[in-house]
Amino acid sequence: MTDIHLPLDRSAGRLAAQIAAGFRAAVRSGRLTAGTRLPSSRDLARDLDVSRGVVVAAYEQLTAEGFLIARRGDGTRIAPLARPDEAAARPRQGAPVRPDGAPAPLPYDLTPGRPDLAAFPRERWIAAARAALRTLPNDALGYPDAAGVPALRAELAGYLGRVRAAHADPARVVVMNGVAHGLSALLAMLRDAGHRELAVEDPTSARQLPMMETAGLRLARVPVDAEGLDVAALARSGARAVLVTPAHQYPTGVVLSPARRAELIAWVRDVDGLILEDDYDAEFRYDRDPVGCLQGVDPDRVVLLGSVSKSLAPALRLGWAVAPPSVAGRLGEHRARTDLGAPVLEQHALTEFLRGGGYDRHLRTMRRRYRARRDALAGALAAHLPDARVHGVSAGIHLYVELPAGCDEDEVVARAAREGVAVTGARSLWSPGRAAAAPPALVLGYAGLSETRLVKAAELLGQAVTHGAGG
Ligand SMILES: Cc1ncc(COP(=O)(O)O)c(C=O)c1O
Repeated sequence: MTDIHLPLDRSAGRLAAQIAAGFRAAVRSGRLTAGTRLPSSRDLARDLDVSRGVVVAAYEQLTAEGFLIARRGDGTRIAPLARPDEAAARPRQGAPVRPDGAPAPLPYDLTPGRPDLAAFPRERWIAAARAALRTLPNDALGYPDAAGVPALRAELAGYLGRVRAAHADPARVVVMNGVAHGLSALLAMLRDAGHRELAVEDPTSARQLPMMETAGLRLARVPVDAEGLDVAALARSGARAVLVTPAHQYPTGVVLSPARRAELIAWVRDVDGLILEDDYDAEFRYDRDPVGCLQGVDPDRVVLLGSVSKSLAPALRLGWAVAPPSVAGRLGEHRARTDLGAPVLEQHALTEFLRGGGYDRHLRTMRRRYRARRDALAGALAAHLPDARVHGVSAGIHLYVELPAGCDEDEVVARAAREGVAVTGARSLWSPGRAAAAPPALVLGYAGLSETRLVKAAELLGQAVTHGAGG
């Protein structure tokens, strides 16, 4: 049933006409679309505090005009022929629009940062959500513990200890709305604690850069080489806090070497600082042993940030921070002061999903699927783009592809789009100072396309690069 905002001017009288006019305006602006079911005349009359006869008169008028269709047993709906004004309905940029209002993606979408959304375990998630809802006592539907419901924090502590070798007990775990939320909250805390600078890898994630840039801290961009973050350069930066992706550097895919891990831990102890460990795609490892998280090495100096965005779906906006107890306490207070905590039903659904083994099962399936996709894309790139250098293949759900020297990155991205392939250039991920010297490169997300489509995408991309290089 649709809840609709219909402002009425009671002093102006003619309430039925006002209601009818309100519905017409809502249809014209696209707020109400064909097929939408309207409230019963009784419910709407109660909501608007008018007599039922007023609403019945308005509905009859609109039905006579063809705006509404009333069917016994099906209530009253907006008629299929009721069209919004063209200007209101026209999609921006003329792109096709899907039922959820977003523009339709290109046929071969290699945008990074998304898992295979078609593989979201809808049925098992519904079962977990149903089980949670069936068993939750009524008082669990009040405001939650802002740090996260205890049952989820306990499940996450067990999972992260088992799978990521994290030093996690429920008191250290705070539920956040994804890595991004954890990062923003931690940056606010660092600023309040007197930090002036944050060090971050160069290149880094385009999604996270704006959060860092608005946090009121000076950003010290630290280069990444074949061993990962350059810790000597970090030490020269003067920062006492660093955001780092040790398990699979974003976007280059480099794994922080054992020597650099040791240097980084020595650095953080030396400066009495804090490491923010972004473990964004740690679930997916293919050709190498999983590397335990840094947090497990020094749990009092490292905050582990993770989420279900790559393992299940970014739409859930569910993640965690595993932090030293004092930091975890302040994160919980931050949530209590700023948003009163994460949605409770989703937290309990994830708890059920973890507890019942659904999460592990889903990850096993996805690891197999992504490995096959990774193989297909890497193989097709070798065939169609033999002069490109492909990095970061052993883990995650994207590849970092250095284009042949002389390629114009923007030109390749634009040409690929004309061929129906959405790819992302890497230049904007570098600091302005290093972007000019960085080789042209693409970040290719492969999680969402079948092997056949990945091979085709690589072929089309190969053509775009050949033309982009002027060949
Ligand atoms: C490297 C990296 N970390 C974290 C995030 C944000 O993840 P979340 O959805 O958990 O906030 C992104 C988003 O794309 C990312 O690229």
